[in-house]
Amino acid sequence: MTISLSAISQQLRSQLRQQIRHARQQLSPQQQHHAAQQLSLRLQTLDRIQHSQHIAVYIANDGEIDPQPFIEWLWQQGKSVYLPVLHPFTKGHLLFLHYDTDTPMITNRYGISEPKLDVRRVKPIAQLDVICTPLVAFDGLGQRLGMGGGYYDRTLSQWHQHRRGPYPIGIGHDCQYIAQLPNQHWDVPLPLIITPNYQFTES
Ligand SMILES: Nc1ncnc2c1ncn2[C@@H]1O[C@H](COP(=O)(O)OP(=O)(O)OP(=O)(O)O)[C@@H](O)[C@H]1O
Ligand SMILES: [Mg+2]
Repeated sequence: MTISLSAISQQLRSQLRQQIRHARQQLSPQQQHHAAQQLSLRLQTLDRIQHSQHIAVYIANDGEIDPQPFIEWLWQQGKSVYLPVLHPFTKGHLLFLHYDTDTPMITNRYGISEPKLDVRRVKPIAQLDVICTPLVAFDGLGQRLGMGGGYYDRTLSQWHQHRRGPYPIGIGHDCQYIAQLPNQHWDVPLPLIITPNYQFTES
């Protein structure tokens, strides 16, 4: 029997996802709160953020680091905030909708809170300045492992191929770092990854 390298890589990716998701789910509410505050402070100091107007984030789920304090700061700065919404027709793709304090929200099929679809609120991806991407794991080369849907890899494929479109910033907890990820050709490496105590920058 032969086992392909690709099958081994897939298995390793799925084990890593399980382990690291478990680690972040174990963080206490106090640790989560502190991490979210630290992350927000770090993001606020970035020139890239200070010079951007249209910034996409996400609503935390599954122990992900919570962008909420950062969102509050963005609103205070008069910046526009966007959230991902599962595309209603094109499987595996995301739309980004404007998000403010009175945006009607629904729960999507993954149990994640997202803005109720309203075409007037859709922002074309090319018009976003920055997308803060969630991640399950990252490594010291900027490689990113997500939840396994390929949503952000698709969203960032223009960035990957042509350095066009919104600048991606990966955000996560310190415990989501691993030395080297088994990546696949479609995975989009990130130029910048920020955690409360770590910063990876593409050289
Ligand atoms: N640009 C793309 N075009 C078409 N399919 C893609 C693209 N990027 C990824 N995929 C597909 O998506 C699937 C999941 O990819 P992967 O395991 O890398 O997800 P992920 O990066 O963990 O998820 P996410 O981006 O949603 O956080 C793979 O089967 C892959 O073939
Ligand atoms: Mg991927």
